[in-house]
Amino acid sequence: MPKQKRIDARALVAAALTAQRRAVAPYSRFKVGAALLAASGEIITGANVESASYGLSCCAERVALFKALTDGTHAFRAAAVVSPGGVTPCGACRQLLVEYARDAILFIADSGKPGVIRRFRVRDLLPSAFVDLPAARS
Ligand code: THU
Repeated sequence: MPKQKRIDARALVAAALTAQRRAVAPYSRFKVGAALLAASGEIITGANVESASYGLSCCAERVALFKALTDGTHAFRAAAVVSPGGVTPCGACRQLLVEYARDAILFIADSGKPGVIRRFRVRDLLPSAFVDLPAARS
């Protein structure tokens, strides 16, 4: 098996910071940026987008994941999320990350202090996560 390149957490956080500037968050004013590192080495970014009908808003993590998946990218090595304070993903995003990027490492940083990076394993984010078991449908 060819040796995988070391994951550059700082570069992934930098990509998430660039995405954060493009967040559309006029209601909460809480801007979040996300970046996914695909197995190919490609970086896919996203930022949160809010609606006047607040519940329609979408988190940065899901925007990045949906962009990647619908561009045909399905294998991820890592993700980075930056926000004021460095929050961890909400429950909805954890479900999707665990489903589609289970083996990835997650880097979290406060956008005001991006040099300090916390590290998690996506698979640990949502214990006993729901998965669609075909057997349960029959
Ligand atoms: N948000 C994200 O984009 N990612 C997170 O991990 C937490 C929350 C967004 C959703 C909403 O636009 C704003 O932050 C405030 O909750």
